[in-house]
Amino acid sequence: MIGPSFIEIAQRFADDKFANSYLPKKIREGGTGNWPGNIIMPANNQLSDQQAQDITAYILSFRKMHY
Ligand code: HEM
Repeated sequence: MIGPSFIEIAQRFADDKFANSYLPKKIREGGTGNWPGNIIMPANNQLSDQQAQDITAYILSFRKMHY
């Protein structure tokens, strides 16, 4: 595993009211230090804010998944 799955991200941020502002920034900027493994997620600067918000909504929709 390199980064967290969309299901794991959705579950961690399910009750986080700041997720809709925090996650688009993380998707665009990448980074490290929030999940196990000390692996760096690369930046995605080519995305617009709107695109990053749309991807965030898609990821957070996985909180409804049961497995
Ligand atoms: C469609 C592309 C991608 C999206 C939408 C995406 C989204 C995310 C999100 C939302 C997080 C959680 C950030 C947080 O909790 O602060 C994350 C973490 C992470 N992603 Fe991605 N990611 C993508 C591609 C990648 C790629 C290509 C890699 C590696 C080659 C990667 C590696 C990681 C790693 C290592 C973390 C954990 C970073 C940490 O510990 O802070 N991601 N990603």
